[in-house]
Order: sequence, then structure tokens, then C-alpha cells
Amino acid sequence: MFELKPIVYASKREHYRELAQQARGLLAGERDLIANAANFSALIYHSLPDINWAGFYLYDGSELVVGPFQGKPACIRIALGRGVCGTAAQTRETQLVADVNAFDGHIACDAASQSEIVVPLIRPDGRLLGVWDVDSPHTQRFDEDDRAGMQALCAVFMENLDA
Ligand code: SME
Repeated sequence: MFELKPIVYASKREHYRELAQQARGLLAGERDLIANAANFSALIYHSLPDINWAGFYLYDGSELVVGPFQGKPACIRIALGRGVCGTAAQTRETQLVADVNAFDGHIACDAASQSEIVVPLIRPDGRLLGVWDVDSPHTQRFDEDDRAGMQALCAVFMENLDA
């Protein structure tokens, strides 16, 4: 039987650098928010191990509304300050949650999710675009390399948007 082996990278940082290059190529020349968000979600969901959800919540001026994503259907609207996503949006700081069951107010969209990382997406003029959210079925899936890597990926995403 043929078994597909996962690609082994020298390091997680190298993997993220490679992913950022791929994201740059994927989004180059396109400024449509939904098109880029959909392709960005698909690229990351299919390139990182041990994740079960990857996608966007977009700020509509009053709350976060689910945007393009990969994974199971998710909750649709999240108020600023609620859950991990709402906290990232309100504080404008990346939230790295090792165990979602220990996060007060975590919103369980998929019971399988055990850890989570959420990066706020801020436009150059300071307006909130939304958040980028990645979930894992394992606790402690995300570390400081993931924080730096995800933030770098989000910077590539934000470079390919119109004001
Ligand atoms: N767990 C998130 C909600 C979104 S889902 O994980 C897709 C939160 O607490 O904000």
C-alpha cells in the first residue's frame, strides 16, 4: 500500500517562511477580500498539521461575523470582547490559548477544538478588519513560533488588500 508521508521541514520557522512565500504567490495581483481570504484559509488549513479549523471573522462595524474558512460550520456572530476571537479583536493582541477549556468565555463551535490561536487584523489606518482564527484538536498545539509565523502570514494577507 502506498502511504503518503508528510513533508518534513528542517524547522517550524522554515515551514512558516515557506508558507509565507506561498501565500505571497497565491494572493499576488488579486485585491478581492473574499477571494483572498478563501484561498488563504485553504492554503493554511491544508499546510499545517494538527488543525481542525482555520478561517476569518470579519468586523461589520458592530461585531465579528464568520468569513471564509476551512473546517466544520462555525458560530456566525461574536461580540467584541467575547470568546478568544472577541478578546483578540478588542485587545488587538494575538491570543494563544493552550487549553480552550481553561479560557474563561471560550466559545465552543466544534467540541473537538482544544487549543487555539487568534491574530487581530488591523488595517494600516488603524481600523479593525477582523481576526484570523486557527483551532487544533490537541492542547498546547501552538507556541511562540506559531505566533510569529501566523502574524507574518497575516501581514502578507493584509498587504494584498485595498484600503
Ligand atoms: N473558539 C472561538 C470561536 C470561533 S471557533 O473556534 C471557529 C472563540 O472562542 O472565539
